[in-house]
Amino acid sequence: MGTLTTIHHFCFFLPVLFIFFPKISVSVDTLSGTQFITQNQTIVSQGDVFELGFFNLDNPGEWYVGIWYKNIPDRTYVWVANRDNPVSNSSGVFKVEDRNLVLLDEGNNLVWSSNITKGDADKYNPVAQLLDSGNLVLREANSNGETDYYLWRSFDYPTDTLLPDMKLGWDLNTGFNRFLTSWKTRNDPSSGDFTFKLDYKGFPEIFLRNKQDIEYRSGPWNGLRFSGVPEMKPLDYMNFSFVSNQDEVYYSFYITNNNLFSRLIVTPTGTLERLTWIPDTKQWNPFWYAPKDQCDEYSECGPYGMCDTNASPVCKCPKGFTPKNEQAWDLRDGSNGCVRKNDLDCGKDKFLHLVNMKLPESTNTVVYRSVNFKDCQAFCARNCSCTAFSNWDIRNGGIGCVIWIGDLIDLRQYTSDGGGQDLFIRLAASDLGTLRNSHSLIFLFLI
Ligand SMILES: *[C@@H]1O[C@H](CO)[C@@H](O)[C@H](O)[C@H]1NC(C)=O
Ligand SMILES: *[C@@H]1O[C@H](CO)[C@@H](O)[C@H](O)[C@H]1NC(C)=O
Ligand SMILES: *[C@@H]1O[C@H](CO)[C@@H](O)[C@H](O)[C@H]1NC(C)=O
Ligand SMILES: *[C@@H]1O[C@H](CO)[C@@H](O)[C@H](O)[C@H]1NC(C)=O
Ligand SMILES: *[C@@H]1O[C@H](CO)[C@@H](O)[C@H](O)[C@H]1NC(C)=O
Repeated sequence: MGTLTTIHHFCFFLPVLFIFFPKISVSVDTLSGTQFITQNQTIVSQGDVFELGFFNLDNPGEWYVGIWYKNIPDRTYVWVANRDNPVSNSSGVFKVEDRNLVLLDEGNNLVWSSNITKGDADKYNPVAQLLDSGNLVLREANSNGETDYYLWRSFDYPTDTLLPDMKLGWDLNTGFNRFLTSWKTRNDPSSGDFTFKLDYKGFPEIFLRNKQDIEYRSGPWNGLRFSGVPEMKPLDYMNFSFVSNQDEVYYSFYITNNNLFSRLIVTPTGTLERLTWIPDTKQWNPFWYAPKDQCDEYSECGPYGMCDTNASPVCKCPKGFTPKNEQAWDLRDGSNGCVRKNDLDCGKDKFLHLVNMKLPESTNTVVYRSVNFKDCQAFCARNCSCTAFSNWDIRNGGIGCVIWIGDLIDLRQYTSDGGGQDLFIRLAASDLGTLRNSHSLIFLFLI
C-alpha cells in the first residue's frame, strides 16, 4: 500500500465512501470511477516503488502529470502524460472518465486523453492502477490485474525512458511502434529532437536520430547482443532480450533483483544512456552510453569505409577498395568512403572475409534464418545485387544467413577480443589475390 498522505487525500475527496462504507478501503495505487488527483496529490504503487502526480520544473505556468521513483530523493521522471500539452497550474484533474484516462485543466477542458476507441469498451468498468514496474494501466475493475484486461498501458507510450519489462519496438499486427523521444531540455519534458526507434525492415536494428538524421545505430541483434554494442553482456542482476517473430519485433531488458533500478534514456543532447541507481552512494551511475567514440558516429567512413578506433586515421578501406576522394581522405574526412579498384563480374566474384565486424546498416538485407553458411554464400554469389553476407545469429558457431543488397554503410571493425562477427564482402576476383584468409580458399577446403 501507499502513503498515509495519499489516503488522507482520498478521504478528503471521498468522505461519503468513508462514512457509509468504512470497510471499503480505497487502494492508493488505483483511481476508480469517482476518484481523481489534483495539485499535490499522488498515487503510489503497491510496493512504494513509483509515484504518479502533477509536477512542474522551470516554468511555473507549465504543469505535467508524470511518474517518478517514489524513494529516489533526486526526483527522476520516467514518464510524462501531457509532455506537449502542459496545464497552466496544478489545479488540473487526472482521472478515469468515459472509460479513458483524462487530464482536464482548471477550466475543465480536455488536455490529454488515453484516446481509447475500442468498440467493445461498453463492457468495461475501467480503473487506473500504477504498478510497481512503473506501468500505469487502465484495466477492468474486476480483472485482478490480469494483463489480458489492460485496455491501455503507459508502457506503450514511452517518453524518453525505457524501464525493465518495457518493449521498444513494433506490434506487427497493428503496426504500432513504441520508441523513445528525448526531452527538449533537462527541465523541459516536451518532445525533443532525438528519437531511439527500431526499424524492422530487413535485419532489425535500432536507430538514434536527430530529427530525420541518423546519429548512431545499435547494429542488428546477433543472438547475444546488438552487433554494435560488444560490451553488452548479461549480468547476474540484468539481462537483455530481442524478440523477432511474425507478431512483434522488440528489445527489452529485465532486472532480476527488485532492489535495483536501471533505465535507458535518450538525453536532450542526443546520447543514449543506461543509468543504474546505486543505493549506497545514492546516485545514478552511468553504466553505458552511446555514441561512445568516433566510430560510433553514423557512416563516419562512408560507403565501404571501415572505422577502427585503433587505427590512425580511424578510416580504412577494405582490401580491393581505395578512397573515393584521396584528398579528403588524407585530410581525415572519410565521409566519401571507398570505391572498388576493379569492377565486379558477377559470375566470377569472390568474397573477402572480414573479422570482428559491426554489421553494416541492415535495412536493405534479406534474412534466411534456416539457410546454412554454404548456401548463404551461394545465394549471395548468384544474386548480382548482393554485396555481402554473414550469419544471422552467432551462437553455436553461427546460424542462418543474411545477405546485403546495395552499398555497405557504416562498417566498423573491433579489436580481436572486442566483439563483432565475420562478414564476407563481394569482391572482384582479381582484387582478392591469394589472401590466406579469403573465404573462397576456406570454402575449397570445406568441400
Ligand atoms: C498539499 O497542498 C496543500 C495546499 O497547498 C498543503 O496545505 C499541504 O501541506 C500539501 N501537502 C503536501 C503533502 O505537500
Ligand atoms: C489555477 O488557475 C485558476 C484560474 O486561473 C485559479 O482560479 C486558481 O487559483 C489557480 N490555482 C492555483 C493552485 O494556482
Ligand atoms: C488524442 O486524440 C486527439 C484527437 O485525435 C489528438 O489531438 C491527441 O493528440 C491524442 N492524444 C494522445 C495522447 O495521443
Ligand atoms: C532474464 O530475466 C528474466 C527475469 O528474471 C527471466 O524471466 C528471463 O528468463 C531471463 N532471460 C534470460 C535469457 O536469462
Ligand atoms: C536479389 O535479391 C533481392 C532480395 O531478395 C531481390 O529483390 C532481387 O530481385 C534479387 N536479384 C536477382 C538478380 O535475383
